[in-house]
Amino acid sequence: MLEQRQKLAVIGWIVLSAVITTVGVIHVLIDPRLHYEIKETVNNYELLVAQNESSALPLDELPADEESVLLNMTDFKLIINNEVCRTASAQGSPLILAFVHSAPKNLKLRNLIRSTWGQELTTIFLLGETTPALQEAIETENSLHHDIVQGNFIDSYRNLTYKHVMGFKWASYHCPGAKYLLKTDDDVFVNVLFLRKFIESKLSPTGARKLILCDIQVTVVQRSFRSKWRVSPKEYSKNWYPQICKGWAILYSPDVSFQLYHIARKAPFFWIDDIYVSGILAPMLNVSLSSVYPFAIQRDKLSGLLSKPYIESQDDFLFGYPGDLITEMNSLWKIVKNTTRYFESSQQNETIVQ
Ligand SMILES: *[C@@H]1O[C@H](CO)[C@@H](O)[C@H](O)[C@H]1NC(C)=O
Ligand SMILES: *[C@@H]1O[C@H](CO)[C@@H](O)[C@H](O)[C@H]1NC(C)=O
Ligand SMILES: *[C@@H]1O[C@H](CO)[C@@H](O)[C@H](O)[C@H]1NC(C)=O
Ligand SMILES: *[C@@H]1O[C@H](CO)[C@@H](O)[C@H](O)[C@H]1NC(C)=O
Ligand SMILES: *[C@@H]1O[C@H](CO)[C@@H](O)[C@H](O)[C@H]1NC(C)=O
Ligand SMILES: *[C@@H]1O[C@H](CO)[C@@H](O)[C@H](O)[C@H]1NC(C)=O
Repeated sequence: MLEQRQKLAVIGWIVLSAVITTVGVIHVLIDPRLHYEIKETVNNYELLVAQNESSALPLDELPADEESVLLNMTDFKLIINNEVCRTASAQGSPLILAFVHSAPKNLKLRNLIRSTWGQELTTIFLLGETTPALQEAIETENSLHHDIVQGNFIDSYRNLTYKHVMGFKWASYHCPGAKYLLKTDDDVFVNVLFLRKFIESKLSPTGARKLILCDIQVTVVQRSFRSKWRVSPKEYSKNWYPQICKGWAILYSPDVSFQLYHIARKAPFFWIDDIYVSGILAPMLNVSLSSVYPFAIQRDKLSGLLSKPYIESQDDFLFGYPGDLITEMNSLWKIVKNTTRYFESSQQNETIVQ
């Protein structure tokens, strides 16, 4: 009898612990702090056709002293500048201008981009001020590659908002003819081939208006003192940010970039650039965020992809998540190049068949 009771007690404990564990797991799975949710947005962008191609940005609406202004800085200037859009190949109006946020010390990452996807786009690297020793290295680097744009604010993660808005400013003044602007980071892979195909088939090669296209997320405000992204209630009082773009790959139409640059002077400063630009400034302009799938390649698909000579259509992707593909960047780029050749030869074959 006693034995029976003990057995029941043991079974009871097992059942109870199982229930507790399950509830725990479910709780972790549905804990909103661990997952972002994607919300559908209304796509209110407009695609351009040949007739509306040459609508210039209203740069003349800006005050005369505007060149030296960036957000609340009134002594802004470029320490290094390169007119990459005025070269023979870009001809003032590249399909895509890529501006890459890069930390001064990240020469290796910049070189990796230069030897891979950066070759195929009009690309600049955005930097802020740094130490004299690094500055010297950057000037040497720039004399080789002529693709650095450096502003006179200290390069630090608390100053990334200056960098992002400098990208908008630079694009407006130095590359107003670009059809699209791609903001990205120095540890991201851009599948230029598919991005171009995507623009040509799903957007418009002539350009767009009111477009912000990215991977959208809803995210909680970090309050932990251990977090690099901690924000005090004084800096941001709500517990959740509005819907924002993950900042490592965002495609803007140039009108939006110009308006974001312009309105940034009037908005209260916030130091996390993704949140500032897509969560605070974009709603002020009534520009909605659009998302696209498949946006980035999932880690678990990568080894399969790397084992094939070219990318098959079911493996389409536009970007590689930040940091994910650094070691594979060269091999993946070769595969993308191979895919380009494959597309070209299959297009030729189609033409021949017709
Ligand atoms: C572009 O041109 C088309 C046809 O002329 C017109 O319907 C459309 O409103 C124009 N779009 C923009 C953004 O100007
Ligand atoms: C700009 O605003 C930020 C945030 O309020 C402040 O920390 C910074 O000192 C200001 N910079 C200038 C040049 O006024
Ligand atoms: C941001 O840049 C400004 C201008 O150079 C500088 O005064 C400020 O200290 C920088 N902020 C940080 C956190 O580095
Ligand atoms: C955005 O929309 C609101 C409400 O419809 C309107 O009051 C505001 O003027 C619009 N702002 C811009 C910049 O279009
Ligand atoms: C590219 O294609 C060629 C011919 O199809 C193949 O020999 C080569 O291994 C491919 N390169 C990569 C990196 O897969
Ligand atoms: C295109 O045609 C050439 C020659 O006929 C052939 O070698 C090649 O494999 C074809 N490419 C594709 C993608 O079908």
